[in-house]
Amino acid sequence: MQKFLIVLAGLALAAGHAFSQVNKPEAHRLQYHFSPKAHWMNDPNGMVYSKGIYHLFFQYYPDSTVWGPMHWGHATSKDMVHWQEQPIALYPDSLGWIFSGSAVVDANNTSGFGKNGQVPLVAIFTHHNDKLEKEKTGKHQYQSLAYSLDEGKTWTKYAGNPVLPNPGIEDFRDPKVRWYEPQKKWIMTLATKDRITFYSSPNLKEWRKESEFGKNLGAHGGVWECPDLFPLQHNGKTVWTLLVSINPGGPNGGSATQYFLGDFDGKTFTPSSTKTKWMDYGPDNYAGVTFANTGNRIVLMGWMNNWQYANVVPTQSWRGATTVPRELGLKEANGDLFLTSSPVKELDALVGKTTSLNSVNVRGSYDLTAKVGGKVKPFKLSLSALANNDLSLVLTNEAGNELIIGYDKATNTYYVDRTKAGKTNFEKGFGKRNSAPRLSVDKTMSLTLLIDVASVELFADQGLTLLTSVFFPEQDFTKLLIKSTSGVTISKLAYAVISENEPH
Ligand code: FRU
Repeated sequence: MQKFLIVLAGLALAAGHAFSQVNKPEAHRLQYHFSPKAHWMNDPNGMVYSKGIYHLFFQYYPDSTVWGPMHWGHATSKDMVHWQEQPIALYPDSLGWIFSGSAVVDANNTSGFGKNGQVPLVAIFTHHNDKLEKEKTGKHQYQSLAYSLDEGKTWTKYAGNPVLPNPGIEDFRDPKVRWYEPQKKWIMTLATKDRITFYSSPNLKEWRKESEFGKNLGAHGGVWECPDLFPLQHNGKTVWTLLVSINPGGPNGGSATQYFLGDFDGKTFTPSSTKTKWMDYGPDNYAGVTFANTGNRIVLMGWMNNWQYANVVPTQSWRGATTVPRELGLKEANGDLFLTSSPVKELDALVGKTTSLNSVNVRGSYDLTAKVGGKVKPFKLSLSALANNDLSLVLTNEAGNELIIGYDKATNTYYVDRTKAGKTNFEKGFGKRNSAPRLSVDKTMSLTLLIDVASVELFADQGLTLLTSVFFPEQDFTKLLIKSTSGVTISKLAYAVISENEPH
């Protein structure tokens, strides 16, 4: 009997061990950002809010951890921070792979897809035909539809696909569709190689070209992709915002998202300034678009990665994640108007007890670790200080890795330096310092930092200057220091741990 018990106990231990091995999160698995349980993801797609549920679809390759024939993966959430992965929504078919696009709630059943009063969700996406691409026809991308009558659980491809054939433009993709109420029609914003083309439709099935924008405007270091067009309110006026992702040609190399502010009259987008502006200067916020059907609230999520190295980042069973959802707004600074991004308030649900410190004098190095519980976990840190001296936050570990996030007074820039933050040898240009101009002219700078196991999102000056960056430490970070050689007083500091949203 005793022997039997010992064997049983041994088995239980072994099982427990195996279980903990299986469930041990991978070293770089993000804790509060969405990433697929396994395999490859890139752009967020078809983000739409319907009946209390946020839907996130995403470029997904279920057979590998590198990019391949694209599907639309699917995840749902009640609050944009706790996500549940769902079965794949769209599979490649005879017309091609399923590239990026959008989804809308067709409340008036303009498409006629609705049945028995059930409002259809309609996905508008690019079919990418691999065979035609190889034949170099230049016509391998075209726009198609799929619809769902059960709130995104199952999808039917439209028999009349494609709805927008290719007129002979090699890069012809990523349709973002929204309802334009003044003229009661749908507007499609499409990336067409080196410009944006706007189309309109009464029913999502027949599209008419309205205008082109941007051939000689903005940044053109790479192809234009994943656009979005939406209205934001500023001082009682509507300002139309046009996002355009570009790859390569970003301000810190590789992929990035620029934006234009202006007016849209249902036909033409007219920019109010021709200056190139970047939504996020960091290397790792790409292809971001906004949720449909959220009223005046405009919320974006981006792909936290960069085509320069996306296929080789050192994660194991998965590759790719989203940024945290960010609420977009507008803010004046130095006589100009800029887009702002702030973490959505829903994120607070994951934020633990706050440690607040006032008037922290830093000269040299100040060890914050002991003040915040002695451990470094994923966290949110906000601080304000006069922008009259250098200041940096440094995360370190026993392996000698160092991630530095700071403000450089001499150049008036913010930066994230991942030169020594861990593994960098998978890509030549990865280990470097990435900077962004400080746009605010306020005397006081305010920083909000979101740190996850392998990512940092810096929101400076109420979301005016953004830096999003991934990094891959060889061990977990164990120390959090604040540094300033010239000396600085942090008037206010708030620190809180951010807990895991869904264990992997
Ligand atoms: C942007 C992008 C899109 C395209 C998709 C393919 O990252 O290149 O233009 O639709 O990825 O996966």
